[in-house]
Amino acid sequence: MRDAERQAALDGIGAEVAACTRCRLHEGRTRTVPGEGTAATEVVFVGEGPGFNEDRQGRPFVGQAGSLLDELLASVLWSRDEVFVTNVVKCRPPGNRDPEPDEIAACAQYLTRQLEVLDPALVVTLGRFSMARFRTGARIGQVHGTFRAAEAASGAPRALTFSMYHPAAALRQASLKQTLFTDMQGVPTALTEARALRAADQARGEPPAAIAPAPSPVAPEPPAIRPDSKPATDVTADAGVESDPTSQLGLF
Ligand code: URA
Ligand code: SF4
Repeated sequence: MRDAERQAALDGIGAEVAACTRCRLHEGRTRTVPGEGTAATEVVFVGEGPGFNEDRQGRPFVGQAGSLLDELLASVLWSRDEVFVTNVVKCRPPGNRDPEPDEIAACAQYLTRQLEVLDPALVVTLGRFSMARFRTGARIGQVHGTFRAAEAASGAPRALTFSMYHPAAALRQASLKQTLFTDMQGVPTALTEARALRAADQARGEPPAAIAPAPSPVAPEPPAIRPDSKPATDVTADAGVESDPTSQLGLF
């Protein structure tokens, strides 16, 4: 898919979210928060749900937790405009309470479809509700700072998922802040690994093999995100020669 097509598909999902009444969270919302970022990205960050400021502005991670997310990205020389940021639920839970299981289930299709459009190499989850969508049964205290293959049902069957604590947790519990920054150092390494796995799958023309859980070592020099380094199929498409990336990759 070309980036313009990806963006149009994301805009379409955003328009559906804006009109959505599938769960009770629509009752108290000011704005829906579908998520935002570049359609060309290889990396998607998934939080929990909009808070007070996000609900007002219709944009994800614009409050205090968002400032911390910006700092985390800057610590590996990344920035918000190179990634896509979204949430498990697209409307604010009243009083910032946890989202309920039925609300998460009602909203799941939107995140799944966003991931199908973006086809990211890496999904970084912020907090346990987000982690649970990609890594069933994992406990955040045990797996934070590590990555593994994302579960296919998430919508990102070719992605690795990297688990982190939620930035808001570090605002409540100061000791977690250093943990977040330490864990963040492993994210670029996970992206490098994810790229290598996808390149190997492409070369073999085979579906991705199961990937064993792996601890992520610290990257001495984080690789930059280069949207123009997306799979070669995009480059081909941009050059005006349409090709079907799925058939080339032999995944479906
Ligand atoms: N917390 C979240 O999980 N998501 C946001 O968008 C803001 C704060
Ligand atoms: Fe719809 Fe999701 Fe908002 Fe619920 S949280 S009303 S499912 S967009």
